[in-house]
Amino acid sequence: MIKGVIFDLDGVIVSTDDLHFEAWQFIANQEGIPFDRTINHQLRGVSRMESLEIILSRASKVYSNDEKQSLATQKNEFYVRLLDQLSEADILPGVKETIRLLKQQNIKIAIGSSSKNARKILKKIGLLDSFDAIIDGNDITYSKPHPEVFIKAGQALGLKPEQCAVVEDAEAGILAAKNAKMFAIGIGPASLSKMADKTLLGINELLVGQAFLDNK
Ligand code: G6P
Ligand code: MG
Repeated sequence: MIKGVIFDLDGVIVSTDDLHFEAWQFIANQEGIPFDRTINHQLRGVSRMESLEIILSRASKVYSNDEKQSLATQKNEFYVRLLDQLSEADILPGVKETIRLLKQQNIKIAIGSSSKNARKILKKIGLLDSFDAIIDGNDITYSKPHPEVFIKAGQALGLKPEQCAVVEDAEAGILAAKNAKMFAIGIGPASLSKMADKTLLGINELLVGQAFLDNK
């Protein structure tokens, strides 16, 4: 029986994809490295440093650790400036209603995100106080598909893995949920995932008669 739902943040609660894209594109242009939306798509759910490694794998030169650190800092400074434009209007359709419904049913809710900017984003969109637990990129050593972020989120909710469902838009996140032995719900791009226990076109489908909870 599901007693808690752990939400990924980027691409599930709020769409920050374009902002990450813009910030990485700035770095890639500056360094003369090819970069496009297909590559950006591979960065969903992947930590900042691992994302940088994926981008730099197309570079013609080898970067030192100090140079990598500097590029990651530049990317984040650019990205954080873009985050300033976020507001409650950027919450994805169905999210607020879903949170309300789950709370009414005494289902605990958490954020399980790879982003170190998760709290900043939640504050900007007015949802910082809406979750029972927030585990983000600052709390973890290993990035998705490692299960650490979801295991820690489940523990923070006081629940066993089999009592938790995860909502994810990235394949790496679906794998992380399965590695954590949790029920994995794929939405958006992850609605095509073969590994997901359930796929939905959007979070608003979670509302439909609490379907995924009844199915468990
Ligand atoms: C999320 C996004 C990734 C991003 C990662 C780290 O998982 O889907 O695209 O790279 O967070 O974000 P950060 O804000 O810490 O750079
Ligand atoms: Mg995501």
